Parts: sequence; C-alpha cells; structure tokens
Amino acid sequence: MSDSTKDGDGTRAVRAGLPEPVKNEPTLPGPVFAAHFHLPGEVAGPYSYGRDDNPTWTLLERAIGELEAPGRDGVETLVFASGMAAISAVLFSQLRAGDTVVLPSDGYQVLPMVRAQLEAYGIEVRTAPTGGDAQLDVLDGAKLLWIESPSNPGLDVCDIRRLVEAAHARGALVAVDNTLATPLGQRPLELGADFSVASGTKQLTGHGDVLLGYVTGRDAEVMAAVRRWRKIVGAISGPMEAWLAHRSIATLQLRVDRQCATALVLAEALRARPEVSGLRYPGLPDDPSHKIASQQMRRYGSVVSFTLPTRARAERFLESLRLVEDATSFGGVRSTAERRRRWGGDAVPEGFIRFSVGAEDAEDLVADVLRALDESAQ
Ligand SMILES: Cc1ncc(COP(=O)(O)O)c(C=O)c1O
Repeated sequence: MSDSTKDGDGTRAVRAGLPEPVKNEPTLPGPVFAAHFHLPGEVAGPYSYGRDDNPTWTLLERAIGELEAPGRDGVETLVFASGMAAISAVLFSQLRAGDTVVLPSDGYQVLPMVRAQLEAYGIEVRTAPTGGDAQLDVLDGAKLLWIESPSNPGLDVCDIRRLVEAAHARGALVAVDNTLATPLGQRPLELGADFSVASGTKQLTGHGDVLLGYVTGRDAEVMAAVRRWRKIVGAISGPMEAWLAHRSIATLQLRVDRQCATALVLAEALRARPEVSGLRYPGLPDDPSHKIASQQMRRYGSVVSFTLPTRARAERFLESLRLVEDATSFGGVRSTAERRRRWGGDAVPEGFIRFSVGAEDAEDLVADVLRALDESAQ
C-alpha cells in the first residue's frame, strides 16, 4: 500500500477524512441530521445521541486530524460549535480551583473575558506577551500554557518548541491556538504541543458562512476530559456546518497558498507607502517575527496588519475600498479589513487595520488598496 504521509498538502487536503469508497455511495457522504440513532437494548456503538457524536463530525474530525498530525497514531480531534467553544473546552476541562494558567496578553480579544471567568472559579491567570517568548518568565507552577502564534491581531510569533520544552519541564500542558496559521501553516503537535485548538470559522472553512471550532490532542485521557466537557456544555456543531467545513477543506491548500502569496505582495506594496506604519506580516523577510516563523511555519497566513496615521484616515480608507468588505473575522476568500480599535478590546492604535487577504487577483487587490490609500489622504 502506498504511504499517504508522503502526500503533498494539496493531495492530503482533497482526500482528508474521506471514507473508504463504497459502490453507489457519494465520495463525501452528506450531513447526517439526527438527534438520536436507533439503539435497541444495551448502549453500544459510536452513535446513540446527537449531542455525543455524529457520523458527519467523525469524518470531519478525521480530516482535521490528518492535516494537524499526518501519520501520527493516537491523535484525536473533536469539533465544536465555534472556536470559543473549543478554547473553553480545553481550559475549563483541564483547570481546577487553585491551578495556574498562562495566557497571552495580546491574544484574541475574548481571552480577557475568559480570564475573568477562570478567576471567578478560583484559577490564577498570568499573562505575558507572545513576542520575545515572554510567557517563559511566568511559567513556574503553571498547569497549562496557552499560546497564540501568530497572535491576533498583532501577528507576533513565539518559539513554540522552546516554550513547550520549558512548560513540559515544569509539568504543564501546552495548547496552541492555530487559527491564524491553519494546519497547513503550522502543526503544533509536531512542535511538541499537547493541543492544537482553532477557530474553523476562519481560513479552515474560508467562506465566511460557518462557525466551527476544534481541538486536536495527543493524549487519550486528556482528550476524554475535553470530550466530556463537550457533552456537558453541549456546544456542538450542527451537521450541516460540519459537512460544509469538510467540503471546504478540500480547497484549503488552494486557498491558503493563494491568499498567503497575495498577502506577501500586499505587505510589500504597503511597505512602500509613507502613511503606513507598524506594518506586520510574518512572511516579510524583515518582519520581527520572520526568523522564528520561518523555522516553525510552512505558510505565513492571510492576515496583514498596519497602522494609518489617524482614526479618521483609517475610516476613510476602509470606506474607499471597493473589493474589501469592512467586516470582522479573517481568512475568507473575500478580503475583509477592519479598524480594530472599534471593538475597544485590543491594545492597538486608533488607526490600526487588520487586513485579511482573500482570493482575489493580487493585482486587483493591491490596486484597490493603493487607490483607497490615495483617496483617503484627501
Ligand atoms: C485567534 C482566534 N482564536 C479564536 C477565535 C474564536 O473563534 P470563533 O469566533 O469561531 O468562536 C478567534 C475569532 O476571531 C480568533 O481570532
């Protein structure tokens, strides 16, 4: 039999999670809509009740597992209703009152709310920035280290392997938020992490029409607790969303390669503009994150961030764009951008723009951005 671990990312993506072919059956079976399954007599077999498991999830979980940890045995993936459901499942299933957790201080803007909830349950929360591996300094005594690399929206990168080694030496588990990178950009389990956790709402599904999250983990006992949490809280994905996600994964490599290539072209064009400051893209050779990113990432993501001189200038820029929607989220095939300070959460300047590069032609997108920069100057 041929060895599928040698397959390229495109080959793996189009085949990920497909069942063995069955004559007269579809390649990817459709969504299974079921609250309950036939269950005469004793409880046996995988499918009994729709909050516990569903065949459409099983195939999607297999697909994500094949991308996050190709060829690795014993790895398990669980899908959730959203990225936050997946993040909460790891944190709240693993931590108890009296434990300590280390979070990034510059991570996704809902993390401060998570922090407050953890503290309300008697869990000590320490934070440090992603850049400079600063989380190393606050690891002593921690039960769990939460990494977000690249961070959203600042696009800082930390040395995951180094942090994992330090955390494991102290007996702490390590989870990496892999949302921005996608499993084609980075494989946290190969870098030693215990969990790769992500919002599949972003580039994994890539069309801005599905909310989804997942946890991939290496340890059966630890993952059993995450699964138990899913059952208790019930933050499950609908079968239709799970199926749409699986269908979308077939084009993941096409989308990611295209979007990453255009993101680099856009970043280079922005670098030449005098009104742009604080430009960040881990794929730019002179970006502060590039050295570590190039060691642990295989693709650098579709998000570029930069700052325009004022809030008004940033708003005029966003209004002038023709091909880019002013919307939150990122990773979709249609470019989006937003002035991140409008939410109030992130510690970024008023004119800070998080720009998510879509699958438009690079020349069209760059021309639109440069025109909008010119128009917004007036
Ligand atoms: C890095 C990161 N993690 C997690 C999430 C949460 O994902 P969801 O919106 O699917 O709950 C987001 C959402 O923007 C994110 O950017």
